[in-house]
Amino acid sequence: MDYIETIVKDLDEIAIVEINKYGIPSLEDYNDITYIAVELAKKSNADIGVVQLGSKLMHIKLGQAISEKKREEHTNMAIGFAQEFFLNYPLNEVLKAKIFACIREHKDKNFSCIESEICANAKCYKFLVPKKILKMFYYYKARGYNYDEIFLIANEKVDEKWNNLTLDICKKELENNYDKIKEFLELCK
Ligand SMILES: [Fe+2]
Repeated sequence: MDYIETIVKDLDEIAIVEINKYGIPSLEDYNDITYIAVELAKKSNADIGVVQLGSKLMHIKLGQAISEKKREEHTNMAIGFAQEFFLNYPLNEVLKAKIFACIREHKDKNFSCIESEICANAKCYKFLVPKKILKMFYYYKARGYNYDEIFLIANEKVDEKWNNLTLDICKKELENNYDKIKEFLELCK
């Protein structure tokens, strides 16, 4: 096991405790986003270890931030967590800087490295895959939203994530999904 795998394993242990405590992100989303990011990294010749850690760390504090009613703070909280977490490992500064960029830029459209662009694009798959849209309806219903509200959120999220995609490879892969999801939502009106 190389040292990045060890760090990933240790991070997963901490993340799963957070996920079980706050329920956000779901374990499925946590795993899926990393899987997508790694696949994109392989196709783009990007650093797989950076993308793995970046995609796992970008939402490490989202559940806690939401529960403390400071969602907009989750990026800074994640950076603070990562700074402390990395003190335990001999990770070189270049890799660390890229991982911090993945966290800091995960909502941006300008990126300081390909790894950060990959993490931001991987995150958008959450609302551009039909199965995930259906799950989103269940999730918001369980949180007390009614059909009209969820429908509006779905429409907004699908467009927002589609417009946030910057990698051609992702746009190509998701274009058909986007068109079909929008068509389906239009029929549901
Ligand atoms: Fe976020």
